[in-house]
Amino acid sequence: MRILFVCLGNICRSPSAEGVFKKLLVERSLSDHYEVDSAGTGDWHIGKSPDPRATSAALAREIDISEMKGRQLSQADYQNFDSIIVMDDQNFEDVMNHCPSPALGKISKLTDYLSATERSATSIADPYYGGPEGFETMLDDIEVAAAGLLDKLEARRQAQAAQ
Ligand code: 4NP
Repeated sequence: MRILFVCLGNICRSPSAEGVFKKLLVERSLSDHYEVDSAGTGDWHIGKSPDPRATSAALAREIDISEMKGRQLSQADYQNFDSIIVMDDQNFEDVMNHCPSPALGKISKLTDYLSATERSATSIADPYYGGPEGFETMLDDIEVAAAGLLDKLEARRQAQAAQ
C-alpha cells in the first residue's frame, strides 16, 4: 500500500507525518506492507531539507527526517499512490482541483482519522510562521491521527487479505 502525505511546502507537516508514520510502521513491524512519501502543493522548497525546527522537534521524538528533500505533488502521484493524505482544507482543495476523476476517492485529510473523542482538530495547523511550540502541537496532532490512519488502513488490508 502506497501512502503520500501532502502539505503546502513539504518542509514542515508532510515530512513530519511521513516520519511519524514510518516510525509507527517500524513499531508495529509493518514496514514491508507500506511505501510512504510526502510532497507539497507548492514549488518553493523543491530539493530543500525540512525546516530545521521540524527536524529538531522530530529528533526529540526519535524520528529522523533530516535526509528528506522537498518535492512538489505531480500528476503521476495521483496514479502511483493508493492514498493521498492532506493536512488542511486548503491542501484538500488544491489537491482535489488537480486530481483526475478516477483518483478522487484516494484523497482524505489526516484529521479525518482522529476518533470522535479525539476530534478537536479539523486540520494539522501550519506551524511555519509561528514559534517552536507550534511544532510540538503539530507532532502531537500528527501522532494521534497517524495511529488512527494506520488502524484504518490495517483493517482494510486485512479485510482484503481475507477475501
Ligand atoms: P508546510 O509549511 O506546508 O507544513 O511545509 C509551510 C512551509 C513553507 C511555507 C508555508 C507553509 N511557505 O510559505 O514557504
